[in-house]
Amino acid sequence: MKKVITYGTFDLLHEGHVNLLRRAKALGDYLIVGVTTDHFDLERGKMNTSDNVMERIEAVKSTGYADQIIIEEYRGQKIDDIQKYGIDIFAIGSDWEGYFDYLKEYCEVVYLPRTEGISSTLLREERPSVRIGIIGTGSIASRFIPEAAFVDNVEITAAYNPDFSECQSFCEKNGIQRAAGSVEELLAACNAVYIASPHYTHYTYAKAALEAGKHVLCETPLVFRRQEAADLFSLADKAGRILMPAHKTAFCPAFRHLVSLLKSGVIGEVADVSASVTTLTDETSEKLDSTRFGGSMNENACFPLLPIFKFLGTDFKNINFYSKMRNGVDIFTKAVFRYDHAVASFQVGLGVKSEGNLVISGTKGYAYVPAPWWRTDYFEIRFEDQNQNKKYFYPFAGEGLRYEIKEFASAILQGSYPKLTRDEILKMAEVQERYLQEINVFRI
Ligand code: CTP
Repeated sequence: MKKVITYGTFDLLHEGHVNLLRRAKALGDYLIVGVTTDHFDLERGKMNTSDNVMERIEAVKSTGYADQIIIEEYRGQKIDDIQKYGIDIFAIGSDWEGYFDYLKEYCEVVYLPRTEGISSTLLREERPSVRIGIIGTGSIASRFIPEAAFVDNVEITAAYNPDFSECQSFCEKNGIQRAAGSVEELLAACNAVYIASPHYTHYTYAKAALEAGKHVLCETPLVFRRQEAADLFSLADKAGRILMPAHKTAFCPAFRHLVSLLKSGVIGEVADVSASVTTLTDETSEKLDSTRFGGSMNENACFPLLPIFKFLGTDFKNINFYSKMRNGVDIFTKAVFRYDHAVASFQVGLGVKSEGNLVISGTKGYAYVPAPWWRTDYFEIRFEDQNQNKKYFYPFAGEGLRYEIKEFASAILQGSYPKLTRDEILKMAEVQERYLQEINVFRI
């Protein structure tokens, strides 16, 4: 029996794929099709896949040409598969001509003619796009624009800043067509907004955007009061729109995989989560301005709250905050959480520096994410027996904002389920609120 293998993403299955599979099958008696996992695609820099791996597998199955479907999840797997399945022919489209010649050492390599004029990329481009208007034109907005260019079906159509001349120069510098003179003008020029204005203005802008029927991606912290977050979600539900905090860590590949790995129980029951985010900040920075919701908690708490909620849930029983103050703001805060069967703590600082790592301790082992864990491309799972330790590496491309933008676009265009739950977002606002209300806040 002659065995043939071929690989692909097979996103939005089209005629080109079907022709390829038919031709590959005709080369032998048994066809194995390797479909890339979502994670492997991300790692290869393919950010824009529309269908998830299960949908893509189903699509390949529906062609009737595959005798067996496997998933491709790592570089170098092709050689392993060829040997494991006793493959005679490796077949792939002619767009890869020459690229897989190194496999000739293991089996015959055949490049099949590619069907002209159709590709997943073209099909994705034909879909409606997310036209984003940016509110606030500071440094994070400048970083957002080049990152958005990596995500299909996303365009930046306008920007707004109450200071119109600043807005104009931002738009000129970044090639944005419309500098909006008012929020209304901005909202008329987009179907979604990215809110990158100072924290204390988030609620007002998000509310206006949702009421105008726009999707909202809002920088963190979303808001400082639970009720405000709840109000925004009910507006979003009423309008049938997406409301998502731009929490870049939540959507980056390493963190996402850490979550699924630990949920599978590799370190046993989680007993403690400890995370720290500290950045020494210039005394004159707005981040330290007490009149504008400055301070370490307001600025950084939403980062360590993410792993605490992901690994221990949101049902904490109590939090104590210990804050070192200067000029009316906390330059450092340590927060300690008590859960029924676990504890957690975090340190945030703008005027105190510490190691910025994340450690999740369990009954069988622990996860160690080195600093800066909030933009990580690497972590380790460690055990008593060091021979069992494992290191995991992931891409963290550019500024990492492309992952949240992709998540936002997928939620709008495909209705995909966001990785940050509503409960987690509400609880983040609740913790910020407890701190502002000085519940269990101790000054040190
Ligand atoms: N293929 C083909 N003809 C096309 C498109 C794809 O023969 N018009 C082949 C590819 O050469 C490959 C297989 O189909 O062997 C799976 O390709 P994949 O990368 O999934 O599809 P594309 O449509 O090329 O995807 P993209 O636009 O994302 O690169």
